[in-house]
Amino acid sequence: MIELQLDRASSTTLVEQIARHIEVAITEGALQPGGRLPSWRDLSAQLGVARGTVRAAYEKLVDRQLLVTSRSGGTRVVDILPPSIVPTIGSESRNFLPPDASYRSDDPLVFQMGVPAADAFPATLWARLFRQAVQTTALRTGLSDPRGLIELRSAIASHVAISRGIECSPDQIIITSGFRSGLSLALRAIDATGKKAWVEDPGYPMTRLALEFAGVNVVPIPVNKQGLSVQDGQKLAPEATVAVVTPGQQAPSGVTMSQERRIELIRWAVKSDAWIVEDDYLAELHLSGQPSNALASGSGADRVIHIGTFSKTISPMVGIGFLVAPLPLARRLIDIATWLGSPPNAAVQVALAEFLREGHYLRHLRRTRRLYCERRGRLLETLTKFGVHTAVPAALSVVMPIPEGFDDQNIFVDARAAGLGPAPLSPWFNGGSCSPSGLILGVANVMERRIERDCRQLLTMIGDPLKNGGYGQNPLVISGLIDADN
Ligand SMILES: Cc1ncc(COP(=O)(O)O)c(C=O)c1O
Repeated sequence: MIELQLDRASSTTLVEQIARHIEVAITEGALQPGGRLPSWRDLSAQLGVARGTVRAAYEKLVDRQLLVTSRSGGTRVVDILPPSIVPTIGSESRNFLPPDASYRSDDPLVFQMGVPAADAFPATLWARLFRQAVQTTALRTGLSDPRGLIELRSAIASHVAISRGIECSPDQIIITSGFRSGLSLALRAIDATGKKAWVEDPGYPMTRLALEFAGVNVVPIPVNKQGLSVQDGQKLAPEATVAVVTPGQQAPSGVTMSQERRIELIRWAVKSDAWIVEDDYLAELHLSGQPSNALASGSGADRVIHIGTFSKTISPMVGIGFLVAPLPLARRLIDIATWLGSPPNAAVQVALAEFLREGHYLRHLRRTRRLYCERRGRLLETLTKFGVHTAVPAALSVVMPIPEGFDDQNIFVDARAAGLGPAPLSPWFNGGSCSPSGLILGVANVMERRIERDCRQLLTMIGDPLKNGGYGQNPLVISGLIDADN
C-alpha cells in the first residue's frame, strides 16, 4: 500500500495531492517502473475518499505518462519513465544508484556492459539440463560438500587445465556464487582486514568497494599499457598484503598484462609474502588474438588465488563462479567455505557440470566470441559514421569520449531513462571529480536491426559529433592505457 497523508484543510485538491504523492514516489524510486498500484477501490478505502477521486488522480498521471492502465493489468507505473522525470531525481537519490553505476534488471539494456547477449543464451538447452539436474538432485538428501559438488569441481579442473593452463586438482577448487563471493572467501583466508591492498586504477569499482567493506585499506595503483605498474605499487604501498588484478583483460581497458609485468608482480608477491588475487572475469572470452594463460598457470602460481566466474561467459543469472586455491592456502579456504560460505544450489551445479562435460560450454564460447566480434566491429563502424572517430575497443566493450563540459554520470542517468545502458567511465578511476569522463558501451546486446537508431539516440543526448568536430581524444589514450591506433 502507498503511505500517503492527505491535508484536507489545504487549498490543493485531494486529486492533486494524491497525484503529487504518487509522482514523488515514482521519482524517488519507491514505486518502480512496471510496479502495480492499488485499485481505485482499495486506495480510496485506505484514504477515506471517493473512488472517483483516486480515479481522477490516476488519470492525471496517465496524462503525464507516468502510469498506464489496462483491463487485465490494472494500473501500473510505465516501464520507461518520460525523460522529463529524470531531472527531478535529486543528487541524494543518485547516491542510491549501485556504486558501479550499472543497470540491474532481469533484462539487459542495449550497450549495457558486463552482461552476455540475451539472444545467444542457449535457453532451451540450459532449461533441459537444469530440469534433469533438479530431478537428479531431488533424490539426494545428504549434506553436500561445502566446496561444491565433485562433478562440477572435476569438470572445472579439466576445463581450466585446457583453456587457462592451470594445473590443479578438484581439491583445490571451491565453487562460489560468482566473483564477489570468491573475493570475500579469499580476503578472509589471507586475513586482509586492516591491511593494504593494491587495486588497479582505473579498475572495477565493485572490487574497490568490496575491499573497503571488508575493512581492507585500498591503495589504487596506476595501470599502463603493460598492466598494473608494480614499480608504482612498490613505491606507494610496498607492505601490501594482496594485489587484486585483471591480468587477462584489464577492466575497463582490455589491456593484457605483459609477460615482464607478470614476472615482476609474482616476484614482488614472493619477496613480500603477499598474495595476488587474479580476477579472471572474462576467462578465454577474448575478442582479439589468443587469450593469454592465467597468472595462476605459471611458476609463482602458489602466490595466486584465481577467481573465475560464469557470469560473463554464460549468464550472471546462473550465479556460479569458482576459486582455485594454491595448495598452501587451500586448507584454510576450505575451512572458511565450510563455516562461512554456502555453495550454490546443487541442481545448478549439476546442470553446469553437464554443460561443461558435454562440450556445450566450449561451443557456446566459440559462438559468442564470433558474435561479439561482429557486434563490436559494427558498433565502432556506426559511431565512426556518425562522427565519433575516437572510440576504441576494450575487451567486450567500446570506450568512447564525450565532449568537455558533459558529465558521464548524468549521461548514464539520462540514457537509462531512455532505455539505453552505457556505463560512465569516471567511477572506474580513483581521481574523484578529476577522473576522465567517457562512456563504456557493452557490445553484447548491440543489435544489427537497431544499431543506427540506438547510436543516434545516445549521441543526440550529447550533441551531434559531426557539428562538434567529433568528441575529442579518447580518455583511455589520454590516460596512457592504450595507443590511439588500438
Ligand atoms: C572486472 C570484473 N570482475 C568481476 C565481475 C563480476 O563477476 P560476478 O558477476 O561473478 O560477481 C565483473 C562484472 O562486471 C567485472 O567487470
